[in-house]
Amino acid sequence: MAIEIEQPSVGLSKIAVSDTHGEDSPYFAGWKAYDEDPYNQSTNPSGVIQMGLAENQVSFDLLEKYLEEHSEVSNWGSKGVPCFRENALFQDYHGLVSFRKAMASFMGQIRGGRAKFDPDRIVLTAGATAANELLTFIIADPGDALLVPTPYYPGFDRDLRWRTGVNIVPIHCDSSNNFQITPQALEAAYKDAEAKNMRVRGILITNPSNPLGATIQRVVLEEILDFVTSKNIHLVSDEIYSGSTFSSSAFVSIAEILEARQYKNSERVHIVYSLSKDLGLPGFRIGTVYSYNDKVVTTARRMSSFTLISSQTQHLLASMLSDKEFTENYIKTNRERLRKRYDMIIEGLKKAGIECLKGNAGLFCWMNLSPLLEKPTRGGELALWDSMLHEVKLNISPGSSCHCSEPGWFRSETLSLRLCIRIEHYEDEGLIWALMASKLRQLQSKACQATQFVSKHGSTYYKNLLEQNKQYIQHPPTVEKCNELSKQLFYTRLASIPGRTESFWKEVDYVKHLWKNRQDLKVEDAGIAALFGLECFAWFCAGEIVGRGFTFTGYYP
Ligand SMILES: Cc1ncc(COP(=O)(O)O)c(C=O)c1O
Repeated sequence: MAIEIEQPSVGLSKIAVSDTHGEDSPYFAGWKAYDEDPYNQSTNPSGVIQMGLAENQVSFDLLEKYLEEHSEVSNWGSKGVPCFRENALFQDYHGLVSFRKAMASFMGQIRGGRAKFDPDRIVLTAGATAANELLTFIIADPGDALLVPTPYYPGFDRDLRWRTGVNIVPIHCDSSNNFQITPQALEAAYKDAEAKNMRVRGILITNPSNPLGATIQRVVLEEILDFVTSKNIHLVSDEIYSGSTFSSSAFVSIAEILEARQYKNSERVHIVYSLSKDLGLPGFRIGTVYSYNDKVVTTARRMSSFTLISSQTQHLLASMLSDKEFTENYIKTNRERLRKRYDMIIEGLKKAGIECLKGNAGLFCWMNLSPLLEKPTRGGELALWDSMLHEVKLNISPGSSCHCSEPGWFRSETLSLRLCIRIEHYEDEGLIWALMASKLRQLQSKACQATQFVSKHGSTYYKNLLEQNKQYIQHPPTVEKCNELSKQLFYTRLASIPGRTESFWKEVDYVKHLWKNRQDLKVEDAGIAALFGLECFAWFCAGEIVGRGFTFTGYYP
């Protein structure tokens, strides 16, 4: 049983109490809903199906086969115990030379050999999350701005803003040109930041894009590079999905553009990479900052002390990535499998009447559910997301959580190897989408039926309900009387709480039961549930007020 500790009123830092981490968005709420009620074909068939994660497990068999055939790399190496000592002892922040060499060569390989990487410019970090934050710390000060094209990966709110105090100013892109970044959109965002008195320090692009699942065209990259040069600001290119394009030629790295320009103005360019997506190893925490700026390399290396990769992990990956036969086969097979999955999902969605942005990379698709919105607004989009999560039981990410300014776009994972394992009888993943579409149609028609029912039978139902419950009605039935009664009820409930901890938990169970059997929910039950919610909310507010009372001193020292 968890030990309950009374929370003291001791103050915390501004960063600790700030909500700029953005983790209260539907993107993370969907994950939570899945964690609380995960789908399982035999034990929880009505649970939430997770399609909001970008986890590449399609080529795990290749990694596992390599490890089986080279067991020495995941143990302590061929030298046994002496190798254990090598791993266990102090590691400096440069990381293992063998690993940096292997990483540089792998980064060149996934770009079809069209760009070269110098191992001495590789700074190791615990994943791309740390790499992006570390670069932000280096290129911007608190209050400065980074321009980021929308829609963007929701984690950037946390990684670029939270601890650094830097602002994100969106570069708005829309479906009129397939969400491509234009010089006009760049200029508008720059002006927007200036109007807010923010100093723009750089642009961060994601290529291939998460959530679009598409690469940025060469001509657009050229324009972006010209723009950052003209404004004398930085360019960070997060290329975490560079090995997950469906063909090597579909992807142009900013490194290739710099090479073609003979590294002119390259000191403002920095690339972020990680093995979380292309190799599907987010748990290993292997990321890098690759910078063309010597000062940035040195500073990033110092800062990486806070976020190093364990020696054993480096040792294992150094061996794996230096094995050219393995990496060539892995990259090729992984691309083919990703493309196959993508095609399958897109085909299924198409059959179900759902259109997607044409993608060529990544682990997800960007689909247009705007025809299903009741209202073409952010609220309408979130209402649909809510029904998808709680009625259809599918977790997909709403575009607004990626700061998309056009309502109705959603990101869905295309891989779902786990989903396939769980839904064994669906041989074609497209069927899942047909299922989803039909559930959505059911939802829509249920909503229509309800509206029709209310308009047709509403007044008879109302009269019967009042007749059956007339003994409870207080006279005169006016708004004033209702206000008075609700106050009486509310404060009586509050006053009763200290003496009824046990019954409070009974109520929790009762409300849980109501929710489980919500198909049979009656008007009175809904009223009780609402009152209970109100009470919980009051407790929450009370907690907030007390909490804030103490933080005010933090705001005004
Ligand atoms: C664009 C982008 N950058 C960074 C990350 C974080 O990656 P990592 O697991 O390497 O920290 C993600 C993860 O989804 C991502 O999509």
